[in-house]
Amino acid sequence: MILLHLSDLHVRPSGMPAYRVAETSHLAERALRAARAFVPRPDAIVISGDLTDCGLVAEYAQLRHLLRRYLAGIPLYLIPGNHDRRENFREGLAEFPGVVTDPEFVQYVVDDLPVRLVMMDSVVSGAGYGLLCPKRLAWLDARLAEAPAKPTFLVLHHPPILCGLPTYDSINLRNGADLGALLARHPQVERILCGHHHRSMTGRLGNVIVSAAPSVAHHGAFELDDDNGRFTFEPAGYHVHLRLPDGGIVSHLLFVEQYPGPFPYIADPDYPGGAAKVA
Ligand SMILES: [Fe+2]
Ligand SMILES: [Fe+2]
Repeated sequence: MILLHLSDLHVRPSGMPAYRVAETSHLAERALRAARAFVPRPDAIVISGDLTDCGLVAEYAQLRHLLRRYLAGIPLYLIPGNHDRRENFREGLAEFPGVVTDPEFVQYVVDDLPVRLVMMDSVVSGAGYGLLCPKRLAWLDARLAEAPAKPTFLVLHHPPILCGLPTYDSINLRNGADLGALLARHPQVERILCGHHHRSMTGRLGNVIVSAAPSVAHHGAFELDDDNGRFTFEPAGYHVHLRLPDGGIVSHLLFVEQYPGPFPYIADPDYPGGAAKVA
């Protein structure tokens, strides 16, 4: 199974940059074009929130146009982030699977892949931080109890652990401990996929690997002793999660931009492995 994990598109209305300098619609289009060109074709794509920058109706129209244009025919699973507005998200993206399944939150399950996806809504309207309220935790508990033997990815926008960057730790998932206690009862959960910090990051909540994808647009500045909340432009990227024939799951970081190569390994005469093919 090949699962592409993109995050934090921050789409603006056509022609408008985010924060005056981030041409997010252009950057989103570039990333979606890369996803479209991915070989072999992915089994599914998840986008873990902040699909738009301000949650405007016009932004969802622009996003819908891009998703239809580039990802038609590829199963696509979406959740909101703090930059989305839940009602506009539900209305603007209602055509995508699961978005309006739940009457209140954007939360749903994808059962037809080798890894089960539980898509969660960690948004607190009007806040940058996230929270899983008792209602959403109960929903998650019930969904995980349905398939205790199937490897599962939980997808939500806000990382449920600290990352060491003060700016971003002030807006993470506020009740990661509650989530951790719940997941301890459901050991089939292999990964928590999230976004929000605009950095590729790996950690652990209890026994579960937390895998935060970078943004396909701007990045959170790596400032360990500063809470200015600034951003940079680093190579835009995304994660690729592979489920391999032995049942193992491995995650790779790839970049949107094309770099030189691939080149063949032509063995140097000094190579100690002899004339065998070099790898
Ligand atoms: Fe974001
Ligand atoms: Fe966010």
